[in-house]
Amino acid sequence: MNPAYELKHPDSVFSPSLLFYRDRIIQNIAHAVDLAGSASRLRPHVKTHKCSEVAKLMVEAGILKHKAATIAEAEMLAQVDAPDVLIAYPIVGPNIARLGKLIDQFPKTRFSCLIDDLAVATKLGAFFHAQGKSVDVYLDLNVGMNRTGIMANHEALELFESLMKIDGLNPVGLHGYDGHNHAESVEERTRVAKDVLNQLRNLKLAIEKTGADIQSIILGGTPQFPVYAKLATDPIFDLSPGTFVLHDVGYGSQKYPDLKGFEPAALLLTRVISHPGGNRLTLDLGHKAVAADPGPAPKRVTLLNVEDYTILSQNEEHLVIETPDAAKWQAGDVIYAVPSHVCPTVALHQFANVVQDGEIIAEWAISARNRRITV
Ligand SMILES: Cc1ncc(COP(=O)(O)O)c(C=O)c1O
Repeated sequence: MNPAYELKHPDSVFSPSLLFYRDRIIQNIAHAVDLAGSASRLRPHVKTHKCSEVAKLMVEAGILKHKAATIAEAEMLAQVDAPDVLIAYPIVGPNIARLGKLIDQFPKTRFSCLIDDLAVATKLGAFFHAQGKSVDVYLDLNVGMNRTGIMANHEALELFESLMKIDGLNPVGLHGYDGHNHAESVEERTRVAKDVLNQLRNLKLAIEKTGADIQSIILGGTPQFPVYAKLATDPIFDLSPGTFVLHDVGYGSQKYPDLKGFEPAALLLTRVISHPGGNRLTLDLGHKAVAADPGPAPKRVTLLNVEDYTILSQNEEHLVIETPDAAKWQAGDVIYAVPSHVCPTVALHQFANVVQDGEIIAEWAISARNRRITV
């Protein structure tokens, strides 16, 4: 285990606990800026950390554009005066009025959201027009992930043209998240990224022929953005990785050699709680403390300071492992673990213990884990 992760006084930390390594977070942010070529090309997704203090570190690094998935995440960003926040999500039902409240409550922040449906666009426009306002919207494109968005063809062109005519809406750009493009091989990711770029560039040209203006095109998560940073050097493209800031095993450098400058900045501190016979050890690291995805228990977490082990099972508050060294471990001994998927893991914790030089220096609230902050 890298000694930089070890706490000098772990006895003050209850378990299971989330640990954030402040210096490592700062280094991951700096590396992302480096890969992107400049802070102005980044629009990181806040969903990974949901924490104002991490957002402030990004703003201090010159990152002024942010992406969110929920109204609460957007509010948390506005609370730290982030100037430009895209809620990369379709806004429907009562969330339309919540977006309206956000805009009223935080005039220093320019909010925007995604649109992929004319009926939703009409409702959104009517709401803002009735208040004498308009909201910035990005056309959401399905570039292969098949989750949200419409295909980047004539239908997208028609929808963009319709958006231009709806009072209360201000269409500013295109959004295409290609989460499906996560092949380990850089060549394969580059091949898919070129296809996505072609789709977006062609649509941009078609839209511009109608006289409309595309101010920005947003694409890419952690495995894709280093590829886009090289392929799409035009500043119109914003890159929107999220996971990089805390990083995890899922995007680890064993799988993705081009991500090797990022290191895990969030660990879990767990303790041995029982020896239930044989070579088994039970830890207080259930799936209410580490995300239950991806897949079955052995895939969810990697233990750093246990050399030879197999994960046998996991319940809500228990993780059972088998190790030939079981007898060496005492109840209460500390084990450090890296989550496979850090984003949903962070959302399971109320706060993170912030570590610097082996000492806990603060507790940072994971405030946007709540579905509602005030709005
Ligand atoms: C719309 C959108 N943009 C960006 C990201 C960030 O991707 P990653 O977690 O791979 O960095 C995500 C991740 O879920 C996303 O859904």
